[in-house]
Amino acid sequence: MDLHSSFPSIGDLKRHARRKVPPFVWEYLDSGTGSEVTLHKNRAALDDVEFLPSILHGPIECDTRTQFLGQDFPLPFGIAPIGMSGLIWPDAEKLLALAGAKAGLPYTLSTVASQSPEDLAPHLGQNAWFQLYPPKDPDIRADMLGRIKSAGFSTLVLTVDVPVASRRERQVRSGLTHPPRLTPRLLAQIAQRPTWALGMARNGMPRMRTLDKYIDGDSALSPTAHIGYLLRTSPDMDYVKWLRDAWDGPFVVKGVMRAEDAARLKQAGVDALWVSNHGGRQFDGAPASICALPAIRAATDLPLIFDSGVEGGLDVLRALALGADFVMLGRGFLYGLAALGSRGPAHVIDILRQDMLANMGQMGLAKLDQLTPRQYSN
Ligand code: LAC
Repeated sequence: MDLHSSFPSIGDLKRHARRKVPPFVWEYLDSGTGSEVTLHKNRAALDDVEFLPSILHGPIECDTRTQFLGQDFPLPFGIAPIGMSGLIWPDAEKLLALAGAKAGLPYTLSTVASQSPEDLAPHLGQNAWFQLYPPKDPDIRADMLGRIKSAGFSTLVLTVDVPVASRRERQVRSGLTHPPRLTPRLLAQIAQRPTWALGMARNGMPRMRTLDKYIDGDSALSPTAHIGYLLRTSPDMDYVKWLRDAWDGPFVVKGVMRAEDAARLKQAGVDALWVSNHGGRQFDGAPASICALPAIRAATDLPLIFDSGVEGGLDVLRALALGADFVMLGRGFLYGLAALGSRGPAHVIDILRQDMLANMGQMGLAKLDQLTPRQYSN
């Protein structure tokens, strides 16, 4: 099957993915928090970023290559961390790490992933990033940094936009727990999804394996009070400075939405800021991530990563035009996995690449560094 004829867009993968996973799993992946106002704003605000097409350039050879944090990348995007990815598809973190390594793009493993740094060590490429939920206990924090360094992760990403759990009402309503407690309601849903069920039977129900060594027992906990929350703290600038001193590789802070935070983070030695509202999953009063980006760009010369709502190559170009140097997306890759299994992530990368090329052609862009807000017509 030619994947591009059956699934030419991430939207196609999203619709198919929804039919492949049990509803309680879909509610985990697709949901935001509160009334999901910010979740929808992320998409709507990206749609509002327009460009004037550009004509009469003759034949154009579009080049999607970029440099970020001292690395060369064939495309300006990577795979964002998604907690418990193994709930969405068996072996998800390994399959995503392999896809990133093969494409020469970053893959970011979440602290609350269903596979550990040690599980992934044999499959990491040059650009393996690790997303840290800040452990409260300094011994656990030091131990985790040692583990991710030994496993071969190059870049540390500290998530700072989860000072407290958000309420995730859709996830709570779905009956999901971590690890999943198989109630009659969930079992009835699983029975309708045989491929997913067989994969889970083969791999075992997913759990937050990185944290196993720090906890006793495995009681099923709610989506807003699971072990990932119990072990973490709300970090402050001292925590950022401690991590900067403790980590000798590139150090990124994820979840920045205020321009005024840029200066103190640069002062603390942070190498890049990750502009994000957590895909609308943390704070339902926040503006769209793309609306926060321009002011942060104007406030700092630090490299900027953008995420939240990206579902195509045009969205990548929108973020770059408004000041991002690199773009990340998570859900899109999980849609690909759930829709197509191991072929999914590479297909998502190719959809994004082809969509970038098609839109760069319309905008008369031979290179990404020609992309500046001047084409942004709003
Ligand atoms: C989430 C956490 C795991 O958004 O980052 O679900």
